Amino acid sequence: MKPIQVGLLGIGTVGSGVFEVLRRNQEEITRRAGRGIEIAAVSRRDTAKARAIVGDAAEVVADARQIIANPDIDIVVELIGGYGLARELVLEAIAAGKHVVTANKALLAVHGTEIFAAAHARGVMVAFEAAVAGGIPIIKALREGLTANRIQWIAGIINGTTNFILSEMRDKGLDFAVALGEAQRLGYAEADPTFDIEGVDAAHKVTLMSAIAFGIPVQFDKAYVEGITKLSAADIKYAEQLGYRIKLLGITKRAEKGIELRVHPALVPSKRLLANVEGAMNAVLVQADAVGTTLYYGKGAGSEPTASAVIADLVDITRLHTANAAQRVPSLAFQPDALSDLPVLPMAEVVTSYYLRLRVADQAGVLATVTGLLAGAGISIDAVLQREADEVGGEGTGPDGTRGVPQTDLIILTHDTREGTMNDAIAQMQALPTVLEPITRIRKEELA
Ligand code: NDP
Ligand code: HSE
Repeated sequence: MKPIQVGLLGIGTVGSGVFEVLRRNQEEITRRAGRGIEIAAVSRRDTAKARAIVGDAAEVVADARQIIANPDIDIVVELIGGYGLARELVLEAIAAGKHVVTANKALLAVHGTEIFAAAHARGVMVAFEAAVAGGIPIIKALREGLTANRIQWIAGIINGTTNFILSEMRDKGLDFAVALGEAQRLGYAEADPTFDIEGVDAAHKVTLMSAIAFGIPVQFDKAYVEGITKLSAADIKYAEQLGYRIKLLGITKRAEKGIELRVHPALVPSKRLLANVEGAMNAVLVQADAVGTTLYYGKGAGSEPTASAVIADLVDITRLHTANAAQRVPSLAFQPDALSDLPVLPMAEVVTSYYLRLRVADQAGVLATVTGLLAGAGISIDAVLQREADEVGGEGTGPDGTRGVPQTDLIILTHDTREGTMNDAIAQMQALPTVLEPITRIRKEELA
């Protein structure tokens, strides 16, 4: 049988990996797919660079639309990135009756509803294993492997760049900027690295996992997003002293009144496997009612790990494209007409525990006032750590403007409370004259 014909839109880090892995493992992949998979054409504006990767093995064009218009192409793989051109090309490919594979989480998190609806109407598949956690087959696991379960929550380290930065800062004492530069050099970072460090990339990914896990529409605009740029070395150190590591987590959870969907740095107990995921590695923890807890770990970025996921989608489509569309696995796991209208909860309704750091005047009664305010708000304290003024190394300006006042850091761990309640309590503590700097609040996830 003639190999299925594939066209790559974009051949950079991921595209070159797809080309190389397919070439190297062609025989093995064909035995699995039941039919050869051939990259017939690739597009890239710099055609010389594309030619240097594929040699004479595939047609090279500068205009991606030439591939979409080619009637011989069965599957279009979008590996350009971004929301603009990528959206147009994917919708045009669907309209032309091509199946689509993409690694573009930004595109699907923002325009997924439109794209999946168009694909459903046209009877083609849109596959996106590579869009979440790179080489880890987490989409397949959530959509198919765990299909018997009612999923309760997912918590994941799903951005390699930020995990790499946090590891380098903690282990080697590297500066934030130096660690980010290294992640860019290694090809982990997005074209716009603010997507990584501000938590946007992780929010794209957890939005997709949330839709698949709970059968809700793709709703990136409802996600709470906080990155790692405001984390200080002091917080990383204090967290260690308290038995925690700080990780950027993507979390989605089924709560009583809706779905939590959030990305933020979080203290994770050092003994948890997730706390020990270092460098650019990713890991996703899934809690489900029948199977219990399962953990998925591996490379979340890079040329060949991501290619591994793209090719898995190509094999799936090769096996399934002749099947009746109604018998295929739905792109978002649930039948499109059976989605739930459970709301995504505002952050104020989320319930979690907290790490608070207050820079306070080192005076009698300060601790009692702060803990009294928390008690008044009904917030239960788990632990308190007070540094000696000379450890913090500080003298500053006191509440009455006096210079040379000893200061100290007060670190408080709380039990679970509603975020809205915590916001009010922080506002009250911040207004105390003895609280000298903006209060640091980092959420704490026990992941038990
Ligand atoms: P690269 O920047 O390395 O590659 C993008 C490619 O697209 C380049 O070859 C570029 O070449 C080409 N391109 C850009 N504009 C056009 C255009 N108008 N027409 C045709 N080609 C174009 O990106 P990555 O390979 O790293 O990422 C691709 C996608 O995969 C992104 O969505 C990314 O988020 C996702 N992803 C990346 C991972 C990684 O580890 N890198 C992991 C998981 C997902 P030229 O400029 O010459 O046109
Ligand atoms: N920039 C992403 C990361 C690439 O660092 O995880 C993989 O999606």
